Amino acid sequence: MSRQKVVIRSDVLDIARFAKMIPVRKSMIKKAPNLPLPKSYAVNRTADLLHPREQRLRVKQIIEHGADTKSFVLESAENRPLAYFRAGQYLSVNLRIGNAVLTRPYSIASSPSRALRGEYVITVKRVESGFASGFILDTWEEGAEVSVSAPEGCFYYEPLRDAKTIVGIAGGSGITPFLSLANAINEQTEDAQLILLYGCRNENEILFKEELDTLAAENEKIKVVYVLSDSKKKKEGLEKGFIDRKLIKKYAPEKFSIFICGPKAMYDFAREEIKKLGIEKKYVRFELFGAANDASELKGFPKDFAEREFNCTVKVRGEEKGKIPCRAQESVLVALERAGISVPSHCRSGECGFCRSKLLSGEVFIPEETDGRRIADAKFGYIHPCCSYPLSDIEIHV
Ligand code: FES
Repeated sequence: MSRQKVVIRSDVLDIARFAKMIPVRKSMIKKAPNLPLPKSYAVNRTADLLHPREQRLRVKQIIEHGADTKSFVLESAENRPLAYFRAGQYLSVNLRIGNAVLTRPYSIASSPSRALRGEYVITVKRVESGFASGFILDTWEEGAEVSVSAPEGCFYYEPLRDAKTIVGIAGGSGITPFLSLANAINEQTEDAQLILLYGCRNENEILFKEELDTLAAENEKIKVVYVLSDSKKKKEGLEKGFIDRKLIKKYAPEKFSIFICGPKAMYDFAREEIKKLGIEKKYVRFELFGAANDASELKGFPKDFAEREFNCTVKVRGEEKGKIPCRAQESVLVALERAGISVPSHCRSGECGFCRSKLLSGEVFIPEETDGRRIADAKFGYIHPCCSYPLSDIEIHV
């Protein structure tokens, strides 16, 4: 007897399964007990734990780093588990300052496994002429209750897309997502190598130096290089100057992903240096944290519009909120927040789409580098108010 191999294609199997699906379901429904539906389902409870709309936290401890920077250790104020995250993500902090309602994103400095033990750490540095950082530093005390979002953002190592080695370029308090990543690598919850180039003006400005040095000494997958712009002489283990392409080449292997988090000046400089290195776009990741405070400094902003003021007519979820003043140099989101109009927002840099709104009439300036809108959104008149600056009276629907 000859044997014949029969190959059943998976789509044939699928059709067979599909044909049985309706009778199988009908018989299951027939057999099921006639009980009221549960009030909640396990899948929704799990989703709520992983992606809560809001987390109420309590300040457990405050750690001071010099005169203008503090780390806040946060725990749940509701006795519930903290939402898990990927090293590099941020929390969006909800604030009410006077009449203004606003949010600010802060990277989580602690490791993901510490969240499983009930703690997040965020670090806040005072921003000169900043609104929110000063408020947090001056008013948050141990025991205070605060409101934050679920962890957000895409600034994390993704093995399917990234090279195995990450070159991290950090400036100032932009070190925090890398500290989280270094800890995650050390705790083996992330399987990557980290070469960290940390730029500061001088040694006194380096945050978490002891912790970073310990991690680098303990784990050969972590290397930390401090790059000091104001340093007069060269010191063992320190580089002098700026993080330019020569320095990146000196420490990076042949293939690497590059992640950048730091102040805007560093970001602008690093972006040009990275362009010259010719790295594929998918291997480059920026964390911006906030649009420009003054749009008139941005490339493409029509200079004669600086100082001009317009009106913005606002509708939130169909409800008229009236007319508010907005300045050309300031984002529409800032104008809304100043007027006390609560608008969903997380990243404040055009990326997350959380503030997505319809521009019903008028004209706005949207800087190219923070235009994170989908093509269809751009085509049909949607804007991200966090990165849109009015150039006429406008009307928007949030
Ligand atoms: S807040 Fe993220 S796009 Fe506006």
